[in-house]
Amino acid sequence: MSTNVYFEQYGDPEVLKVGPEDLPEPAAGEVRVEFRAIGVNPTDWKLVAGHLSKVAPLDLPEVPGSEAAGVVTAVGPAFEGFTVGDEVIWSGFTGGYRMEAVVPADQLTPLPAGVDFEQAACIPVAGGTAYSALKQLGVGPGDTVLIHAAAGGVGSAAVQIAQAFGARVIGTASEANQDYLRELGAEAVPYGPGLTDRIRSAAEEAGAVTAVLDAVGTEESVAATVELLPDRGRAVITAPGKQSKEAGIAAVQQQEGRIMDVATLAAEGLITFTIAHRLPLVEAAEALELSRSGHGHGKIVLLP
Ligand SMILES: NC(=O)c1ccc[n+]([C@@H]2O[C@H](COP(=O)([O-])OP(=O)(O)OC[C@H]3O[C@@H](n4cnc5c(N)ncnc54)[C@H](OP(=O)(O)O)[C@@H]3O)[C@@H](O)[C@H]2O)c1
Repeated sequence: MSTNVYFEQYGDPEVLKVGPEDLPEPAAGEVRVEFRAIGVNPTDWKLVAGHLSKVAPLDLPEVPGSEAAGVVTAVGPAFEGFTVGDEVIWSGFTGGYRMEAVVPADQLTPLPAGVDFEQAACIPVAGGTAYSALKQLGVGPGDTVLIHAAAGGVGSAAVQIAQAFGARVIGTASEANQDYLRELGAEAVPYGPGLTDRIRSAAEEAGAVTAVLDAVGTEESVAATVELLPDRGRAVITAPGKQSKEAGIAAVQQQEGRIMDVATLAAEGLITFTIAHRLPLVEAAEALELSRSGHGHGKIVLLP
């Protein structure tokens, strides 16, 4: 018997319910994994609220959650990819808010030595998206990368990965997160009126902004990108909207192999996720409220 967190109707986080579930034995090509840590992302509350129901209609009830890390407890018949006891990272679309899950083996990545379960559970979405965006931009030595919303899950991962790629980083955040950005190695700029001028004066000490990752997609962030980056081909956004599309800013495309690559960076000590909140799995509704507040400081993790 396992436990899951599910919703039967779209709504605010309080629609989440906690209940027991019987797990099936894994079929061919499937693996059962006992989750030790589960990552929480803005997609989770958006999914529960029904904001994604047009692009990704769900057959309710559904279990939210798209990333976790844990230990293999059973494998399907005639399967050679993983064995009981292997430590793995899981990445899917839904189904993560549970103690144990039966998943397709091709959704798993081996967990490298030296990366704990909490760190591993943050890799697929925030780490994978940040990595994909920076690869898409072709960021490397000589670049000055502007990261809008640099203190959030995606942004804080991107600040570290961009530096691992040899780039200089300017990050935007609220006043409360300026010191945090500096700790991560970014030059910190508060968002709000006058943003473009503040970024320009930070950048000009060593040249201009050469690439932009926008992890918030506000009118202000898009306008700053448009003003600072004549070559819109070097801008990507994780939260595209009408304004970013009109400005010719590309949406992030997830890159093949990103989870293994970020896990390797984590094992090498080049990226560490800040865990701002750890909550028990049964308090998932509270975790979604925290995520929905939109002022993250790294990641939120659920512990089964
Ligand atoms: N397309 C994809 O595949 C994909 C993948 C992952 C995420 N996303 C999307 O990308 C966005 C970011 O995800 P996340 O996980 O990083 O979220 P998060 O952890 O909740 O972080 C959001 C960040 O936005 C910052 N912020 C809030 N208002 C802002 C403003 N007006 N200007 C600049 N920054 C502001 C906050 O910083 P302060 O606290 O300092 O205000 C916070 O750190 C979400 O919309 C998410 O759905 C898309």
